[in-house]
Amino acid sequence: MIPPGATIGILGGGQLGRMMAIAARRLGYGIVGLDPQADGPLGQVVNRMIAADYGDLSAVRELASLSAVVTLEFENVPAESLSAIAEMVNVAPRPQVLATTRHRVREKSFLRDHGFPVTTFGAARNLGELRAVLDAVGYPAIIKTCEFGYDGKGQVRVDAPDEVASAWEKLGTNDAIVEAVVPFLSEASVICTRAADGRGSTFPVFENEHRHHILDITRMPARLDERLRRRARDMALAITDALGVVGTLAVELFVVPSASNGPSLLVNELAPRPHNSGHVTIDACRTDQFEQHIRAICGLPLGSTDPLHGGGAMANLLGDCWQQGEPDWAATLGSDPGLKLHLYGKASPAPGRKMGHLNLAGMDPETCAKTLIQARDRLCPKATP
Ligand SMILES: Nc1ncnc2c1ncn2[C@@H]1O[C@H](COP(=O)(O)OP(=O)(O)O)[C@@H](O)[C@H]1O
Ligand SMILES: [Mg+2]
Repeated sequence: MIPPGATIGILGGGQLGRMMAIAARRLGYGIVGLDPQADGPLGQVVNRMIAADYGDLSAVRELASLSAVVTLEFENVPAESLSAIAEMVNVAPRPQVLATTRHRVREKSFLRDHGFPVTTFGAARNLGELRAVLDAVGYPAIIKTCEFGYDGKGQVRVDAPDEVASAWEKLGTNDAIVEAVVPFLSEASVICTRAADGRGSTFPVFENEHRHHILDITRMPARLDERLRRRARDMALAITDALGVVGTLAVELFVVPSASNGPSLLVNELAPRPHNSGHVTIDACRTDQFEQHIRAICGLPLGSTDPLHGGGAMANLLGDCWQQGEPDWAATLGSDPGLKLHLYGKASPAPGRKMGHLNLAGMDPETCAKTLIQARDRLCPKATP
């Protein structure tokens, strides 16, 4: 057990690191962070920030020497850095987990080989392999770079054979996954937290609406029948067990129509860390995803994930909201006294950049979502036409 008062190291200086740090500080932990850009969202709330590349071995060793445990908000830390840290102190998630989840083909193969349902897929390292895989997978398909993709970056959809060559050129990779397009009814996610003793907890299932491949609105709980929600939570826990994660694992799911027995689930992807879809838990659950993660990696008992008021919703605030200047925060917060504003302290609001989010807890997630969308429209009229 790592008792409150100890120091936690965080690799990656963005909003996930910041919200982990805020939760950890509430519990009385100290924080040391490492990121090439030291003055980002995490840097504003730490005891100490190390400004260095993730591949800088002496810098990551310094982080380890100052930390009782090291966790990550960023999956693409080089393997050598992770092993250097793991020689000195526990890393959560373990480097082996990251090796699986950071690479789309390894991740989907792991899921398929362990009996979890995924869409038809194949690997392509060149145009010839791509054509061969597409013959098997069929059209339409999505080609994704295996590493470093997020928010739909590094993905191209192909609807017909004559689009294949230009799609490959556009991706500019020699390591891709090809996936059959899933005709999903909706998208959902489950956030699991597994303690070192193997005990696991899940939050209620989230329903996620994307705009331009970026998460836009999350509703909690998802509008699915109880049977499917139970299945989603059980499946996510089983994946967390199979991977042996200590800490948090987010499981993104597609809800798909099936001929028999109502809708079913496919796993889209995994993230071994707190996840954007879980931000609603900060204001809508007894314990939020960031605190639960900190409890797990420090060996503290997990908290209750029960909703405080039945459910809630979250709306992301992208840099687009700043196009007309600083948003009108007072007007937004004034529109509903239950609204909670979270801003990440980012200096430059580029379009598409995640700057913050709005949360609202309440019995009916759909009413919460509508209130949030109206409040956000007031904040940034141009961003949500
Ligand atoms: N095989 C697929 N079929 C249908 N839609 C997909 C598929 N893969 C991805 N998408 C859509 O693109 C979004 C982003 O893709 P994802 O694989 O989750 O990558 P990332 O979130 O890392 O950018 C998904 O949430 C989903 O809306
Ligand atoms: Mg995703």
